[in-house]
Amino acid sequence: MAREVTHEEQGPAILDESDMGDDDKIYVCQCGLSDSKPLCDGSHNATPDEADGVVYKYANDEAEGERREVGELDDGDE
Ligand code: FES
Repeated sequence: MAREVTHEEQGPAILDESDMGDDDKIYVCQCGLSDSKPLCDGSHNATPDEADGVVYKYANDEAEGERREVGELDDGDE
C-alpha cells in the first residue's frame, strides 16, 4: 500500500517540546493524511485495509475523503 499526497510547503517544520505527546514522544505523520502535519493526528487509522501493491489517493488528502486506486507499486523486478 502507498498513497499519493500533495505537499505545498517549501521548507522544513521545526519541532520542539511543545509538540510532544503526554508520553514525551513526538509522533511524526508518515501516512501523509494528517491535518496537523508534520505531526500525526490519527488519520492513519483510515489506511489499514489498503491492499499491498496498490497506490491510493484520498480526496483532498483527507482520511475522510473518498479513496480511490490510482496505480500499482513497481516492485522493481523487471
Ligand atoms: S501517521 Fe499520518 S496521521 Fe498518523
